[in-house]
Amino acid sequence: MLKSIATTAALLVVHANAACECGYKTNTGQTWQYSVETDFSKLNTLEWAATTDWAISNLVRQATVDLNYTTNNVAVSNGKLQLLCSAYNATTDSSIRSGQIRTTRQDILYGSFRASYSVMALSPGSVAGFFFYANDTQEIDIEIQSKMNNQTVHLGNQPTQSTDVYLPNKGVVTGMHDYRFDWLKTETKFYLDSVPAGGFTKDTPVVDGTISFNMWGNGGSFSGPQTPTTDNVMSISKIALYFNTSDSTESAKWEKACKAVKKRPVCVVDRVGLSTNTTAPATGGGSAGTSGGHSSKSKGRKGKGRLSWGGLRKILPVGVAAAAYHV
Ligand SMILES: *[C@@H]1O[C@H](CO)[C@@H](O)[C@H](O)[C@H]1NC(C)=O
Ligand SMILES: *[C@@H]1O[C@H](CO)[C@@H](O)[C@H](O)[C@H]1NC(C)=O
Ligand SMILES: *[C@@H]1O[C@H](CO)[C@@H](O)[C@H](O)[C@H]1NC(C)=O
Ligand SMILES: *[C@@H]1O[C@H](CO)[C@@H](O)[C@H](O)[C@H]1NC(C)=O
Ligand SMILES: *[C@@H]1O[C@H](CO)[C@@H](O)[C@H](O)[C@H]1NC(C)=O
Ligand SMILES: *[C@@H]1O[C@H](CO)[C@@H](O)[C@H](O)[C@H]1NC(C)=O
Repeated sequence: MLKSIATTAALLVVHANAACECGYKTNTGQTWQYSVETDFSKLNTLEWAATTDWAISNLVRQATVDLNYTTNNVAVSNGKLQLLCSAYNATTDSSIRSGQIRTTRQDILYGSFRASYSVMALSPGSVAGFFFYANDTQEIDIEIQSKMNNQTVHLGNQPTQSTDVYLPNKGVVTGMHDYRFDWLKTETKFYLDSVPAGGFTKDTPVVDGTISFNMWGNGGSFSGPQTPTTDNVMSISKIALYFNTSDSTESAKWEKACKAVKKRPVCVVDRVGLSTNTTAPATGGGSAGTSGGHSSKSKGRKGKGRLSWGGLRKILPVGVAAAAYHV
């Protein structure tokens, strides 16, 4: 009996060692301290509602037509996070109802950000965004405009750097694609379906912020030329963010936790595009990407949630914990 408890304890230690205590190394050679990995194909609505990694926006921005981020326009269904920009009717609607989520962490300072999603827009007037944001001059964007031809993607460092590029292999945005941007100290680099798609040095952000996804319209020239006449949807199947913190106290904790483990496991994010394969190195012992360390897999752990959730949260009885969740 005692022996089996001891064995179990030993296994738990091995397991803890195998988490990514010393960060995540990407195929382009950077190592990042933290991850947020959210796989909607493996996440049910309750688990999604309980996660503290993401906040759903609930706010109105004045614009040509007011932009209304509402929790009603964010849902997990069919294994995807659905962000909706609703059809707008000038007679009955005072705003364009839109959907947005953002990381609860606001201390993201440099990183490699990946997501797999599709955009179905039957009318012009909306934009699907995947971006880093601190303020209007500290922002990195991947945006798909529904007024474009379903094949181009708008990449930019706000406010002055941008370019429109085609998806590789004549891909169309209505299909599922891997979108990635790396924010480094002196430049940003973009990848579409793992293929390098250029980048910028000028206007590279230098302050910390958040990562967001949204599907929005505001009647302005960028989302326009008109308001959407159909419900336009961005469907996200997986998000994988690897990044460093701006917080020196957090960073010191991270250093300490890394030094505390014997084998110093650095997990390898080995695909160019979206990681579907976060693996500990052979010396790390066991599979990585499970609970513990600095990895956050949207399993509703306590701690980082600093923002209140909107509608989805309210349907949960207080104290409901998400079930164990593995990528
Ligand atoms: C991220 O932070 C870690 C720990 O301070 C550091 O070793 C690493 O070089 C940083 N990554 C980049 C790309 O700057
Ligand atoms: C907009 O709403 C009005 C009032 O309900 C309705 O009469 C009209 O047909 C709607 N327009 C469209 C394009 O659906
Ligand atoms: C924003 O959308 C919500 C949900 O549909 C609605 O209740 C609210 O009235 C809207 N706000 C504005 C300013 O249109
Ligand atoms: C994008 O594709 C959808 C679905 O095939 C189509 O209905 C829509 O008209 C296309 N939009 C543009 C701008 O080509
Ligand atoms: C954005 O943040 C940067 C860095 O803190 C600051 O210099 C700049 O003035 C801010 N810009 C706006 C538009 O607030
Ligand atoms: C994941 O990476 C490991 C180590 O590089 C490799 O052996 C394995 O085949 C990969 N699995 C998949 C599904 O790509």
